[in-house]
Amino acid sequence: EENLSYKEAIEKAGSSITRFPLIHIRGVPLMCHIANNWDSIWAFCPDPSDLLIATYPKAGTTWTQEIVDLLLHNGDAEACKRAPTPIRSPFLEICSPPPIPSGLDLLKKMDPPRVIKTHLPFQLVPPGFWENKCKAIYVARNAKDNLVSYYYFDLMNKTQPEPGPFDGYINKFMRGELSWGPWYDHVKSYWVEKEKRNILYLFYEDMKENPRREVLRIMKYLDLSVSDEVINQIVELTSFKSMKENPMANYSCIPSPVFDQSVSPFMRKGEVGDWKNHFTPEQAKMFDEDYAEQMKDVNIP
Ligand code: PPS
Repeated sequence: EENLSYKEAIEKAGSSITRFPLIHIRGVPLMCHIANNWDSIWAFCPDPSDLLIATYPKAGTTWTQEIVDLLLHNGDAEACKRAPTPIRSPFLEICSPPPIPSGLDLLKKMDPPRVIKTHLPFQLVPPGFWENKCKAIYVARNAKDNLVSYYYFDLMNKTQPEPGPFDGYINKFMRGELSWGPWYDHVKSYWVEKEKRNILYLFYEDMKENPRREVLRIMKYLDLSVSDEVINQIVELTSFKSMKENPMANYSCIPSPVFDQSVSPFMRKGEVGDWKNHFTPEQAKMFDEDYAEQMKDVNIP
């Protein structure tokens, strides 16, 4: 088992791969395997040099992981093709049936500094991250675009609950019933902590608007210094097109019983405003009214 590749391990898990039910941990619905291993996740203690990349699912995690890995390797494209994203930058809380290694299993085998992905809302992030003053990057994305991306992901990711029809999915999103819970509380939970915890809070839309500017922000936050030429190269290597074609960044490492990319590719569209192709005017109005209510206590642009 030790020598199985990630892909082989998933293939071996075979029929134990199903659309897992969700179990609530402190009010947040999580895949049952995560919930059943909650104590060990909560007890995880990072090294002070570890970096956390936190997002609500489908907000720009993989993109940010790739930018960070390239910055840490001075833009070396080959070095950043050493392994697929979830191996280079493990997913803290992910737990799946054996023999698939959990995020914690992968982290145990790596030396710090590690780049750790999480979708946990702030209150569920293991407290060791803040006790050790780890750096953390949060990425938020427009709610309606985030929802559309999540909908397609739930169609293709055969371990997530069935999304059902789009109209009902909008309601599940608004009520916080999807995996990892309410989007609203998630973006707010990091927003209110960002100064105190020195969290770099980014927006997917800013990254699309001016990727160079946001790559530089990440570079400065990480106290790195990379030449202009290398920054340009990183911007190019982390374009949607480059990442879609990069087998080490496009999640082709996850075989089709888990990610069925013939249903919808992981690198689907990578655009701002795709919600307009999915929401009816009535759905958008209803969503926006509820959004104003749920977000009235914060001032997130
Ligand atoms: S996950 O499963 O939560 O880690 O997914 P995540 O990586 O957060 O989000 C996937 C969406 O991000 C888009 N994406 C990108 N957009 C622009 N540029 C780059 N380089 C990029 N890489 C990934 C991806 O296409 C998903 O969005 P949608 O709207 O579905 O296309």
